[in-house]
Amino acid sequence: MENTTAEKRKVVFSGIQPSGNITLGNYMGALRNFTSFENADCLYCMADLHTLTVRQNPADLRKRTASLAAIYIACGLDPDENIIYCQSHVPAHAELAWVLNCYTYMGELSRMTQFKDKSQKHADNINAGLFTYPVLMASDILLYQTNIVPVGVDQKQHVEICRDIAQRFNGIYGDVFQIPEPYIPKATAKIMSLTEPTKKMSKSDPEDTFIAVLDKPEDIRRKLKRAVTDSDGEIRFDPENKPGVSNLLTILSVLKKETMEETVASLQGLGYGALKEAVTEAVIGELAPIQARYNEIIADKDGLNAILKRNAEKAQYLAQKTLRKVYKKVGLYQG
Ligand code: TRP
Repeated sequence: MENTTAEKRKVVFSGIQPSGNITLGNYMGALRNFTSFENADCLYCMADLHTLTVRQNPADLRKRTASLAAIYIACGLDPDENIIYCQSHVPAHAELAWVLNCYTYMGELSRMTQFKDKSQKHADNINAGLFTYPVLMASDILLYQTNIVPVGVDQKQHVEICRDIAQRFNGIYGDVFQIPEPYIPKATAKIMSLTEPTKKMSKSDPEDTFIAVLDKPEDIRRKLKRAVTDSDGEIRFDPENKPGVSNLLTILSVLKKETMEETVASLQGLGYGALKEAVTEAVIGELAPIQARYNEIIADKDGLNAILKRNAEKAQYLAQKTLRKVYKKVGLYQG
């Protein structure tokens, strides 16, 4: 990632919180697209510090963090080509977050949709970390001079505040940070809940609302059988009036790499049973090889730990360069 050649390689950064079962929504909206950045330096972190904003069971959090690392790799991200690491293994994230907290306004943080949603959901624990969550996320991104941030549409506002903070900082101290762009793949940006298809599929919702990447075939079958549709019986893509059916069609067309028209045409004259069956087959077919690789990776804990250690060192090296520059610019004594 040295800036020595005229054609600088792009830096791609994204993160996922190890806060629940990784869902088909995470896979289709994020993970699956992470493998498509060639000729870029890509970093993908397990955002474990972010998960502390909501109370976690410590043993579960540890387990889910290792599991997420194995899922990243099982989904096709080569850990020698991509920096896959644990956010808390690189202290520079928390260090930059402190500095950037001092360049972020209470007003802009209080306007964040996710903060408002989560404060409602966890009314008994509206902690300061929940409030400054976007600042830690901005630090994640800015530490690596990131150009592109692939995220789901729900995270767009966080990338925007990151840009605002970076521009503000650069405005005072000169070009310290690269200004990142969000990258939101259109068709796959939002997979909806199976039981409430007007809401995003979320790993923090009840089990039957989502398909997990590691779900067994029989669970996938059962959950899709129970997925909410509607009563008009017609297979048609119309997210506004037919959110359930449209969500199933989206999953199917994306996984089969077809256009929506092709997918709808392939189901002409058939009923919702056939649609669900087609989705079930497509999902099981997509996830089976990932699960097989996952099982191999997670069985070799020492191997996985070695990968994470190596990659955290690479990330820390890169992050330190930006952090040192920031410390110097703001006037922290460097000796
Ligand atoms: N906040 C993101 C989410 O919940 C996860 C995340 C943390 C992230 N740090 C990031 C995403 C940096 C992109 C870039 O989905």
